[in-house]
Parts: sequence; structure tokens; C-alpha cells
Amino acid sequence: MDRDDMQVLQYRVAEAGQSHLLRFWEELDVAEQQELYTDLKGMDLEEVGQAFQRAMTGSGHLPGQENVDARMEPVPREILGSTTRDQAHLPAWEEEGLLQISQNKVAVLLLAGGQGSRLGVSYPKGMYDVGLPSHKTLFQIQAERILKLQQLAEKQHGRKCVIPWYIMTSGRTMEATKMFFLKHRHFGLKKENVIFFQQGMLPAMDFDGKVLLEGKGKISMAPDGNGGLYRALGVHRIVEDMEQRGIGSIHVYCVDNILVKVADPRFIGFCVQKGADCGAKVVEKTNPTEPVGVVCRVDGIYQVVEYSEISLATAQKRSPDGRLLFNAGNIANHYFTMEFLRDIVNVYEPQLKHHVAQKKIPYIDVATGKPVKPDKPNGIKMEKFVFDIFQFAKKFVVYEVLREDEFSPLKNADSQNGKDNPTTARHALMSLHHCWVLNAGGHFVDENGTCLPAIPRLKDANDLPIQCEISPLVSYGGEGLEEFVKDKEFHAPLIIDRNGVHQLVKNGM
Ligand code: UD1
Repeated sequence: MDRDDMQVLQYRVAEAGQSHLLRFWEELDVAEQQELYTDLKGMDLEEVGQAFQRAMTGSGHLPGQENVDARMEPVPREILGSTTRDQAHLPAWEEEGLLQISQNKVAVLLLAGGQGSRLGVSYPKGMYDVGLPSHKTLFQIQAERILKLQQLAEKQHGRKCVIPWYIMTSGRTMEATKMFFLKHRHFGLKKENVIFFQQGMLPAMDFDGKVLLEGKGKISMAPDGNGGLYRALGVHRIVEDMEQRGIGSIHVYCVDNILVKVADPRFIGFCVQKGADCGAKVVEKTNPTEPVGVVCRVDGIYQVVEYSEISLATAQKRSPDGRLLFNAGNIANHYFTMEFLRDIVNVYEPQLKHHVAQKKIPYIDVATGKPVKPDKPNGIKMEKFVFDIFQFAKKFVVYEVLREDEFSPLKNADSQNGKDNPTTARHALMSLHHCWVLNAGGHFVDENGTCLPAIPRLKDANDLPIQCEISPLVSYGGEGLEEFVKDKEFHAPLIIDRNGVHQLVKNGM
């Protein structure tokens, strides 16, 4: 950078009221100066300032809306599909979904740009091993479900097909994620069908809109939220890639749910048959303080009221049947048509406002040059949310599934509390697989040969599940297990993978 470049930068920074960012310029070495220059040059400070103003002028859940609580209504039955109440329709929805997949019309999109701060690991969450007998990571489990689903669709319709997997990472997770996939040869998927792209970052600011410095030459940056997806899809021309591949339906999901049914054919089929352009999967929320958003209507418009933005009084409201009034718990599994996604990226994205989270953000005090570790919130991070586009849907639907079949997120470390941690995730998966074995006609016996009770669902975190793990390469959702387990007795641990059944088997019960 020459003197002119520097003057332009100084001017821009001053115009945006952020001159303090260059306060320590003279103390930086050449490499640090170059880095700060590049960071600032790549940042639209005017836009950042506007986002700050817009974000701070509203509270409530769609940013800018206040008192949403009073205007919230639950999801009406007519837009709701349910795996329990609509069992008769499930085969038709599944058939439709498999048909779409077999025609190469379905893509999956993974949101994996989060920092996993609650879990407390320094690497991307998808690389986490929750301690299953196989020690598979979340990424591997998801990859194998995609592989299996491709096979199921191929078998059903007699043609080879591909489910492309788009993976959104952030500046913090991109390199490690890519390296991990390379090391594991993309878990058997074709490299060209796993497409990585990177979301944007935004600076952290104090309550006056001043960008915070993490170091004397380093701006404090964080990913711009999972709703940063829509801008990133445009910037990296991912929409074009999808269109070239002839994609019609996209399943978007979060990295942390060990039970996620990637490209779930029933969910896809349900949305397609309902003619929906946008859909959300939910589980029944039973605890008012559970950290899940709720899908609902506000002033007649569908949206998610995030757990951080709903009041306790509203979260606790109950229907006459005793259930929570707002019980459509968002499990961050969304369906979009290609057309809808294209419109969002090309037309509506700029209208999405940032949500504000007050945080304790370590910073350099510009007056003293000293690092400060605040003990109370001193600034904000701004994030867009992936579900804030529901408001633009022409036809929105909701699909309710059973928690024990499809939702066990990994949010916290084991040491923190008993919820949503590696242990609960591991137990949820083994408990579900135990059920699959029972449904396929198998049984577990203890060391004395006594049949174990067929109530594998765990009631509290201290109950230990039967050790049972079935590879996604063998079964996507419990199908096809009869040949391995029907009329057989098993001792735990039981592992079923591509090489067969691993453990003691007694034939003929
Ligand atoms: C999210 C949902 C919440 C839902 C819950 C279910 C959002 C905004 N909130 O909450 O309604 O009930 O999951 O488990 O979706 N991510 C990015 N980039 C970012 C931030 C996050 O890709 O900048 C990804 C993460 O990698 C993760 C997902 O988004 O896959 C969810 O992020 P997280 O912050 O864990 O969301 P929750 O607060 O748990």
C-alpha cells in the first residue's frame, strides 16, 4: 500500500466514525499493518454502520418489531403435517421424496459456520466424535446418510443419482473442514458433489457503534449468523451451481443434530405434494425454557420467535389440553424450492435485518492500549438468522416429527450441564437404533439370557442405553434390518455395519 492508499483509508475510516481503529498504526510491524489495511479495505464500514443503526432501533424478534408476544399465534393445523397424526400419508410422501432424489432434483445444504463456543472445541463441530462405538464424527454420519439415501432412491427407481452436499463454513472453520474431508476422502462421496463455500464476517461493536479491536492491529470479527447464508449463496454463485445441476428442492440443516435425517424423503415429499415453497421441521416443545425457537405467526406472517427473544410468560402459556401453546419447536431443518431460494438471494436478502446479541467481548482499550476482559456485556455481535426468510414464502408448511427419532443437538460440553451434550447425543442415537432392532423383530437379552424390556427410550440422563449402533450405510431410517436381526437374540454391544453384525448371536428364539 502506498501513501495515497493510506490516505484514502484514513478518510474512509474517519467518515465512518471509526478512526480509533488506526490508533496504534505506528506501533504495528509491516506485516500487521498490511493485515489491518487489507481487513479494513475489504470491509464496507458504511454498511456496517447502517446495520448497527437498524439493528439497535428494534428489539423483539424479527428485528425492528416490538412486543411480538402479544401478537403471536400458534401454527394452524391446516399447514401442519405430522409423522404421528398423518401416518397414512407417510408412504406417499416418502415415495415422492425418493422420486425427486432419483431425478437429481434434491440438494442438501449444511450450515457449519458457527464457532461452537458452547461446546468449547477449537475445531469445527462436525468433526466432533461423541464417543459412539464406531467413533464416527457428525460429518461422517451425515455423509453416510447421503450415500445410503442415494442408494435407496437408485434401487427404487433404477437410475443412478446424486444428492449434492453444499457446506457453508466461515473464515474460522473453512480450512479445517476442507482438510478433514480431504483426509477422509469425502467419506465415500464424490469430491465434485461436496461443495464448500464461506459465509461473511462482521465486526463486533461497542454500544455506541464503535468497532472493537481484538489486538492493536486486529479487528474483532465474528461470522454474520447462519442467515449469512443468503448473501454467501449469491457471492459464491452457489445458486447458479444448483440451477446448473437442475436442483428443485433444498434441505437446509444445522451441523449439530446427531439424528438429522439429511434430505429426508418424507419431509421433501410432504413439501412437494403440498406445493410449498418453504417448510420447517419441528418437534413438540415441552419445556418452556428449552433453547429452541418456536415456529408461529405474528400478524399473520410465519416466522420463528427465537428462544433468546421470547418472554418467559409467553413461553409458559398453555393450551386447554395442557400442552405449551407455542410448541412448534424449531429443529433448524428447512425446505426451500429453488425458485424461492433464488428470489431470496436476488431480491429479499438486503431486507433481512440483523439480530443483536449482547456479549462480553475482550478488546483493546484505545485510550490505554491495554487488553480488557470484561465481566459484563460491553458490546454486540450482529447476526442474521436463517429462518427470517419465512416471511417471504407464498406457501409455508410445517412438518412435525418425534424428538426421539430426529432431534438430539450437540450444543454443550459434557461438563457444563446434563443437556444437549456428547453423552445425550450418543445415548439418543443408540436408543433410537435399539428401537429399530426391536421394530425389525430382534431382541436383547442380558448375561443370564433374560429378555431385556422393550422400553429403550431414556427418561433421564443417568439411564444408560443399550449399546447399539447401526451404520447409516446399512439403514437410513430403520429400514432393511430384518435380514440382520429378525427372530434373533443379541447381547449388547451390538454393531451392525457394512461388514455385518458384530457380537454374540443366538439363533431361533
Ligand atoms: C438454532 C436455531 C434455533 C433452533 C436450534 C435447534 C437459528 C438462528 N436458531 O439455535 O431456532 O431451535 O438451532 O437446535 O437457526 N451457524 C453458521 N453460521 C453462524 C452461526 C451459526 O453456519 O454464523 C450454524 C452453526 O454451525 C449450526 C447452526 O447454524 O450448525 C445453528 O447455530 P447455533 O448458534 O448453534 O444455533 P442455536 O442457538 O442452537
